[in-house]
Amino acid sequence: MREGYRSRAAYKLIEIQNRHHIIRETDNVVDLGAAPGSWLQVIRGLTRGTVLGIDLSPIVPIDGVITLTGDIADREIRSEARNLLGVVNVVTSDAAPKLSGHKSYDQARSIALGEDALSFACEVLKPGGNFVAKAFQGEDFQQLYREVQDHFLSVRTFKSSVSRKGSAEIYIIGKNHVSMHETEGSV
Ligand SMILES: C[S@@+](CC[C@H](N)C(=O)[O-])C[C@H]1O[C@@H](n2cnc3c(N)ncnc32)[C@H](O)[C@@H]1O
Repeated sequence: MREGYRSRAAYKLIEIQNRHHIIRETDNVVDLGAAPGSWLQVIRGLTRGTVLGIDLSPIVPIDGVITLTGDIADREIRSEARNLLGVVNVVTSDAAPKLSGHKSYDQARSIALGEDALSFACEVLKPGGNFVAKAFQGEDFQQLYREVQDHFLSVRTFKSSVSRKGSAEIYIIGKNHVSMHETEGSV
């Protein structure tokens, strides 16, 4: 790839950033489902903050990026992320299931990963933080979207022009995280 990115997925995050400005230059960022690492490369170029990538598969080292190997649903991985970063300003997730070819099964798995990414974000994000997660459109997508709305003041979807033609892939973008604590206090 001309710019040295590890995968074309890099251009999806670049599009999201250009449109939605989710990462600021001092943000600490966690990227979920990060292998092989092209989003991490883009994120490293956007912020001077700490950048952490997590994936089931090991990630070949990237200068200035911390990586962990594990499942994003694993509680220990979450507390390790909190310990490493302290404050987390942004959580991004491009996590996707290994495709089985069975459309409805793959779609359900992708929504489940979106839920895992959201629960990860709600555990680690500071109030006001931002969130991006990939999901496949279809059954239960609206439910996931509504759950994101419960935790962020502004929620949008984004279809990348880099995704394959006809792909069900879509990104949910949540900005300005409201912690449950804050919500309870404001009732
Ligand atoms: C499309 S790739 C991500 C590409 C990456 N954004 C990049 O730019 O290089 C999806 C990744 O999600 C990871 N993944 C799927 N389920 C996961 C889980 N439960 N925990 C951590 N990673 C997961 C897969 O291992 C795979 O590497």
